[in-house]
Amino acid sequence: MGKVISLVSLKGGVGKTTLSASLAAELANHYGKKVLLIDGNYSAPNLGLHMDIISPGNTVHDVLSVSNMGLQGAVHEKYGVDTVPGNFMFEREYSPLKLRQKLTHARKSYDFIIIDSSPSLNEELMSAMFASDSLFIVSTPDYPSLSCSMKIARVARQRGRNVSGIIMNRVLDTKYQITLEEIQETLGIPVVAMINEEKKVARSLYERKPMPLHNKRGQFSREVRRLCASLTGLKEKRSFFREFFGRFSKEEVNREVLRENFYNSIFEN
Ligand SMILES: Nc1ncnc2c1ncn2[C@@H]1O[C@H](COP(=O)(O)OP(=O)(O)OP(=O)(O)O)[C@@H](O)[C@H]1O
Ligand SMILES: [Mg+2]
Repeated sequence: MGKVISLVSLKGGVGKTTLSASLAAELANHYGKKVLLIDGNYSAPNLGLHMDIISPGNTVHDVLSVSNMGLQGAVHEKYGVDTVPGNFMFEREYSPLKLRQKLTHARKSYDFIIIDSSPSLNEELMSAMFASDSLFIVSTPDYPSLSCSMKIARVARQRGRNVSGIIMNRVLDTKYQITLEEIQETLGIPVVAMINEEKKVARSLYERKPMPLHNKRGQFSREVRRLCASLTGLKEKRSFFREFFGRFSKEEVNREVLRENFYNSIFEN
């Protein structure tokens, strides 16, 4: 049974869509997993643009508006990932909260189902939250993003949803940013990836190709690869020197815990 993961935040522009596309591309291409990627940002869907799906036929909106239509009817295969994009121009009624039920069948055909979500605290976000086994909060290292992350962590907790970790994105080498320790202490949730602000992300979006396929060697893609290793239950590759001297960063240690918790507890159920 495939596991459903949503990338969530109440702050726009922190990188949910960029990272959803990147995790999906990496899990499919580097780890050989079968991945379904869904645009859960129904009012501003742009996941298709990240996956080079420009004018899709059926979309997630059709699936959520037609009672007997399954997600398979809106799949567009690109970069080794089955993507269900959204439709910016959709004008009929649709029911976001039906997503969970629509996933029942899809779970049997995929290893991972990744949902890119909306930053609005309404039915759209709830659609992703209720459909997921596990949430990852995407945050940037600044106070406005931290306060939004606090709020979404509380919402998730109140609704009994499981938050597996925080992905810190757009990290800069400056003292004017919140540290990993600060964010972990405030939220009580482990930071499982620290992804730098990288200029190449703009080009990858311009070329509509997820970062791990556009620029394999940069810090962004390496960190995405390490996070995906934990999700698939694999140990991270480390140099002999670092393994021997046990020089691990805090996020590496957190990923080790994630690997054990996420893979063992979720996948063996
Ligand atoms: N690590 C990064 N380095 C540089 N630019 C980045 C990085 N991550 C994301 N971006 C850029 O930030 C912008 C916002 O990213 P993205 O659309 O993924 O955010 P989002 O959280 O999905 O936003 P929204 O909530 O509005 O859907 C994009 O232009 C993207 O290319
Ligand atoms: Mg987005």
